[in-house]
Amino acid sequence: MSSRYNSILTEIYNEALPLKQTGTVANYIPELAKIDPDKFGIHLRTLDGDDFFIGDSDEKFSIQSISKVFALALAVSLIGEKVFKRVGVEPSGSSFNSLVQLEYEKGIPRNPLINAGAMVVCDILIDKLKHPKKEILNFVRKLSGNQSVSFNEHVAASEKEFGFRNAALANLVKSFGNIHHTVDEVLDIYFHICSLEMSCRDLATAFLLFANHGKLPNTHEEILTKSQTKRLSAVMQTCGFYDEAGEFSFTVGLPGKSGVGGGIVALHPHKYAVATWSPRLNAKGNSVMGMKALELLTTKLGSSIF
Ligand code: DON
Repeated sequence: MSSRYNSILTEIYNEALPLKQTGTVANYIPELAKIDPDKFGIHLRTLDGDDFFIGDSDEKFSIQSISKVFALALAVSLIGEKVFKRVGVEPSGSSFNSLVQLEYEKGIPRNPLINAGAMVVCDILIDKLKHPKKEILNFVRKLSGNQSVSFNEHVAASEKEFGFRNAALANLVKSFGNIHHTVDEVLDIYFHICSLEMSCRDLATAFLLFANHGKLPNTHEEILTKSQTKRLSAVMQTCGFYDEAGEFSFTVGLPGKSGVGGGIVALHPHKYAVATWSPRLNAKGNSVMGMKALELLTTKLGSSIF
């Protein structure tokens, strides 16, 4: 199997390369626009602990919205099902920072993976954690097995400076009473989790938790129950790519999550987690080469969850 994975990753890398110039780097967060758009890496880690990687897979980048999965996992581990009283589980069919649904759905975000939903999750974490930033960071470090994972303060500050739409979302949710702490406190946590920097290796390692039904693969420590893990993977499947969640399911067929830093992570329950990074995005905010690479992966392996 190992030589098969190795040769498939090489094939995928080369077949995705013609898309190298397609798409644009996110520039609505000025600090993100500074990234080299030609970076491209893939890392696949199996539940047996085997690693397969190619390209810039060990370089850290801004994980952005991928962090919403970590925040959700931590919140669910702390308060369980109660999270879903304050945030829904339906795909939004809208962009990740859309304001419109929030108004007529009375401040209950459609799901925890759109910006407004992640803000409600941050509000829960502020409530339950004594030192939210530190404890969120420790959680992600534990999952990734990498103590050097950290926030990028420049990115967090850049998001804050230009985060007019996010501020609007937080204020709108707060006006309906679904944010309990101050908008400033919630946005501070939200912008910091988005600024987390991790490599494809770190992300693939961390997402093995979901492939392993909520237990850390190395220590077998249970972080989430089987049922909670199912719920998280289901939310990733239906909501992880915003208004392109259908397309990702259709072409790749794995639960996963993207971020505007160009990262995508996906997992195959019982088998592996895989992360890709290429900063050029399509119009929906998802990495062009990452989407292609993962489509090629499940096609060549002849296996998806369906
Ligand atoms: O709030 C924002 O707009 C960014 N910090 C995160 C957006 C993001 O990654 C959406 N993902 N595709």
